[in-house]
Amino acid sequence: MSMGQQDGRLKGRVAFVTGGLRGIGLATVERYLVEGASVVISDLDAADSPAAAGVIERLGPSASYIAANVTEEGDWKRASDLVRERHGKLHILVNNAGTDLTGPVEALALADWRKIMAINVDGVFLGTRQFVPLMAESGVEVRGGASIINVSSIMGLVGYADTSAYNASKGAVRLFTKAIAVEFATKKMPIRANSIHPGFVLTPLLHAGFQRWVDKGFAEKPQDLIDTMAATTPVGRLADPAEIAGAAYFLASDDSSYMTGTEVVVDGGWTAQ
Ligand SMILES: NC(=O)c1ccc[n+]([C@@H]2O[C@H](COP(=O)([O-])OP(=O)(O)OC[C@H]3O[C@@H](n4cnc5c(N)ncnc54)[C@H](O)[C@@H]3O)[C@@H](O)[C@H]2O)c1
Repeated sequence: MSMGQQDGRLKGRVAFVTGGLRGIGLATVERYLVEGASVVISDLDAADSPAAAGVIERLGPSASYIAANVTEEGDWKRASDLVRERHGKLHILVNNAGTDLTGPVEALALADWRKIMAINVDGVFLGTRQFVPLMAESGVEVRGGASIINVSSIMGLVGYADTSAYNASKGAVRLFTKAIAVEFATKKMPIRANSIHPGFVLTPLLHAGFQRWVDKGFAEKPQDLIDTMAATTPVGRLADPAEIAGAAYFLASDDSSYMTGTEVVVDGGWTAQ
C-alpha cells in the first residue's frame, strides 16, 4: 500500500507490536504507520543489528524499536517504561511474536514443549499483564476502548498431525483472549481483546518450517510444500503477510469498536472445509 492511500484513521494512536521485524508483525507495523499511528516495535534482535536498524531507518520517525524477549518479565517492564516515557499512552497491543514446533507427540522433548509455551503463551500473558494499566488509561480516549490483538492461528482452532505443541499453544491464546475480553468488559475497563487466526502465510517462519521438512526428507524442495498447502486451501494460494495485517488494522480501528472476545479467521477458507 502506498502512502498516497493513507487515510490516517489511526492518527494519534500508539501501538506496540511484538515480533515486529519480520513476517506478519512487520506487515502490521507497516499498515499501522500508513494509517497514521506511532508504533513501537519489539523483537529479539539487538537495536544496532542490521535487521533492526534497517527497519527503523526505512520506516521513519513514527516507528521506534526496543530489543525485548516476550518470555522475560524484565523486558516487558523495560518496554512499558519506554512506551510511557516516549508516548504516555498505548491504544493497541499486538502480541504477535511466536514460533513453531512440529513432530510426533511421542518424540517431543519437554524442553521444546516448554519453550514454545513460553514464547507463544507466556509471552501473550506477560505482555497483556504489563500493559493493562496503561491501556485502561488510554482506552477512555477511543471509541470501544484500547485494543489487544493476539495472533493465534488456524492451528488454534483445529488439530493437525505432528503439531500438538503448536496447536496447544495457539488454542491457549484463543481462550486466554476470550477470558480477558470478558474480564475487561464486565469490569467496564476500556480494553477490547480479540484473536487473529491466520492460515498459511508466506513469512520467514513458514519458510524455515518448510526447510526443516525438506531436511527431514518429506519433500524435495520448499516450493513443493508451498504448492501442497496451496492445493489444500480453497482459494488455492498462501497468504501475503499484508492480508493478515488488514485484519490487525480492522481490530485496531474504531470499525471494530463492538468486537471483543472474538476470533478473526484469515485463512483463504481452510477451516471452512
Ligand atoms: N506464517 C504463518 O503461516 C502463520 C500462520 C498462523 C499463525 N502465525 C503466527 O503469526 C505470528 C507471526 O508469525 P510469522 O510467520 O510472521 O513469524 P516470523 O518468524 O516470520 O516472525 C516472527 C518474529 O517474532 C520474533 N520472535 C520470536 N520469538 C520471540 C521472542 N521470544 N521474543 C520476541 N520476539 C520473538 C522473531 O524474531 C521474528 O522476527 C506467530 O505468532 C505465528 O505463530 C503464523
